[in-house]
Amino acid sequence: MIIAVDGPTASGKGTIARALAAHFGLPVLDTGLLYRAVGYQTQLNHGDPDNAADALEACDFPASLLDDPALRYESTGSLASRVSVHAEVRRALLQRQVDFANQPGGAVLDGRDIGTVIAPHADAKLFVTATPEERARRRHAEMLERGVEVSYEAVLADVHARDARDTGRADAPLLRAEDALLLDNSDMGVDEAIAAAIAFVSE
Ligand code: CDP
Repeated sequence: MIIAVDGPTASGKGTIARALAAHFGLPVLDTGLLYRAVGYQTQLNHGDPDNAADALEACDFPASLLDDPALRYESTGSLASRVSVHAEVRRALLQRQVDFANQPGGAVLDGRDIGTVIAPHADAKLFVTATPEERARRRHAEMLERGVEVSYEAVLADVHARDARDTGRADAPLLRAEDALLLDNSDMGVDEAIAAAIAFVSE
């Protein structure tokens, strides 16, 4: 069974993908991590994330980079968002995602284009979302918890900027696959959202 989980930044798709993987006993791939590694490697190379050739060169990042805590930084998320607009980068990262999706026994993948590009044949597709204000509120709380001092307004501005880049890019823009369940969890707690996702996939 292949499960595709897509959605915008801070929508809770990672949490839902991990919960689905645990529930159904499947391996899970956070594809955002690959784009984060490319963004971070571009910076290590002193390259320009807005330059396609620099970003493409960074797709050769060492596998060990995927375990680097720096990939979790907010600043790395911004770099990821910038390198992910380049069609060359998306192409370079395509095959390892497709191979992960098609491994025997199935898999859960979360990202932006899983249900549309990576696994259009997925058995279950979810599009996880929440209002920009609610996503910013959650991310802001998360950051304060980690000791990052930042204003809600700054986080909301970043959410809007990420949304604009994700939906505005020419190659594989963020959009709900026609056959994906729209899971708007603006007014749901985590447990409720996970239960709704499991119920949908079990149908
Ligand atoms: O949830 P958040 O945006 O903070 O992080 P993420 O899911 O790790 O993704 C980081 C960035 O990579 C996003 O801003 C997307 O623009 C990009 N991305 C993408 O283009 N395609 C994917 N399949 C996954 C992430």
